Amino acid sequence: MSERERLLKAVSYLKNAVKIKPEIGIVLGSGLGELGNLVKNPLIIPYKDIPEFPVPTVKGHKGNLIFGNFYGKNVAMMQGRFHLYEGYPVNKVVFGVRVLGLLGIKTLIVSNAAGGINENLQPGDLMVIKDHINFVGENPAGGEEIEELGPRFFDMTCAYDEKLRNIAREVFEELGVSFKEGVYAFFKGPSYETPAEIRMLKILGADAVGMSTVPEVIAARQMGIRVFGISLITNMAAGISKAPLSHEEVLDVSKKAGEKFIKIILGIIERI
Ligand code: HPA
Repeated sequence: MSERERLLKAVSYLKNAVKIKPEIGIVLGSGLGELGNLVKNPLIIPYKDIPEFPVPTVKGHKGNLIFGNFYGKNVAMMQGRFHLYEGYPVNKVVFGVRVLGLLGIKTLIVSNAAGGINENLQPGDLMVIKDHINFVGENPAGGEEIEELGPRFFDMTCAYDEKLRNIAREVFEELGVSFKEGVYAFFKGPSYETPAEIRMLKILGADAVGMSTVPEVIAARQMGIRVFGISLITNMAAGISKAPLSHEEVLDVSKKAGEKFIKIILGIIERI
C-alpha cells in the first residue's frame, strides 16, 4: 500500500467514526497530556483502532486521538506522539498530523519538553517557539509525492505563526506568566546531548533543544496549516548546569508545570 493510501484509509475510518470536523489540532507533549482529560463529552479513539495509525512506545506517552470542544471550537488532540528515536521512519512520525490535516484542521498547536540552552530560561518556564533548526536531516516532505499534502517546495519563513505568538503574549501577560520566545533545535536523541553539542547549538542561535516537533511542524506547513509551538523547559541542557540529565527530572517538571501549561493553551484556544 502506498503512503497516500494508508493516510486515506485512516482518514476514511475517522470520518465515519467522528461526525464533527475538527478545526484545531493539538499534539500533547509532556506536561500537556491532562488537557485531553478536560474536554466535556470527549470522543476517545485509541490509535490502535485506527487503520495504519502508529502506536507510541515511550513511557508517559499515551496513544489516543481525542475529539472534543473547547470554547465552541472543535479540537482533535493527539495524546501521545511518535519520535524518530523510537525507530519510526519520518512519515510515521508525522502520520497523525497529516491525518488531522486531511480532516480539515486549520491550526496546529504543538508542545514538547525541551532542555534550556539560553540562560534566561529556567526549568518550569514555557518558551514559545519562534523558529527552529533541524539538526536531524530528516524531512517528512521528501520521498513519495502526495498531492493532497501540498506542494513539494514550500516556505518556512513564517513557520511559527506570528499572530498566534502575539495572542500567546497576551495570554501570558493576563496570567502573569513571563513571556519567553526562542529558537528550538531538533536533535534525534534518545541520548541527551553532550556539553560540546550544546555549546555548538548556543553559538548557532538555539535557545532550547528537544527530540520532537520539527517533523510535525514541517508536515503541517506543507499542508498550509498555521502552527503554534511551545516548549516546556524541563531542565537546563547538558553542561549549562552541572547536574546530569534524567528522564525522571523531565517527567517531574512536566507534572509540576502542567497546570500553568494547560491554562496558557486554553487561553490561546479561546482567542483563536
Ligand atoms: N535535550 C533533548 N530533549 C529534551 C531535553 C534535553 O535536554 N529535555 C527534555 N527533552
